[in-house]
Amino acid sequence: MMFRASKLLLLVVVCILKDVEGSCPTMLKTNVQVERRLLGKGFHRDLETTVYVSSPEDLSGCKILLKDILPSGAYADTNQLKFLKALGGPSFHIPQTVNVETPEHLSSKTFVYLFAKPQPTLQDHLLVNLTIPVHFRYHRARNGNIYPLTVSITVPHPSVLLMCEEFVEGCLPLLLLEPCPPDGRDSCEWLPLHSFSTTEAVAGQIPVGNTNLLDTVLLATTTVTGGAVLLILTAVRKKKPIQLTVQGAHCCISPDLYDL
Ligand SMILES: *[C@@H]1O[C@H](CO)[C@@H](O)[C@H](O)[C@H]1NC(C)=O
Repeated sequence: MMFRASKLLLLVVVCILKDVEGSCPTMLKTNVQVERRLLGKGFHRDLETTVYVSSPEDLSGCKILLKDILPSGAYADTNQLKFLKALGGPSFHIPQTVNVETPEHLSSKTFVYLFAKPQPTLQDHLLVNLTIPVHFRYHRARNGNIYPLTVSITVPHPSVLLMCEEFVEGCLPLLLLEPCPPDGRDSCEWLPLHSFSTTEAVAGQIPVGNTNLLDTVLLATTTVTGGAVLLILTAVRKKKPIQLTVQGAHCCISPDLYDL
């Protein structure tokens, strides 16, 4: 009985939502295509996002928000984005303090909001094309006999939201509070848009340390360090201090001093 009631409730909620969406032509008729590329190799990459927006409405005065949630294995560096913004890079907001040192298992997801003004194109749609640097985090070393020694970090496609001077009344119940451009200091009302993509979420492969090699690495490091110390000590012992007589006083000066 309970089960049926909750199912019915769900159905009603879904119907209401569909109905609300139906009265927001901006959401219903705007076509959004998101494409992504992860450029480069290794731990430091460029994440390129291209968004094509086509709509029967004139959205050229509107702004676009790309909301990204980077997994704990990746981050965007606030200071680097600030620097790039000063050089003409995208406006952004990262609501958290990003620790760029911590490994993956001690990190959380990073929220990255990118603000853009869509540009008209010859193909009769609006275009947003942004590239930001993203970085991958070191992963905890694992046993190479059991686990693969590369990990794949998947960066999901962003959500796309729209902010215009005015929305028709039917859209108002659908608006979400998200950060305002250009730096996310306040909250603004954004209309979430449905989007599709012809590409899968992008993923980067990075190497992981092998715990199997840990003993070998420790032994090698200790041997090399120990050997170097011995070598230095032997060299120092071989060089006999020379005797100098300065105004009758005996003084020892290591020959090493002359090299300075
Ligand atoms: C987006 O910008 C990159 C350079 O940053 C360029 O290579 C690419 O062709 C652009 N994409 C579109 C669809 O304009």
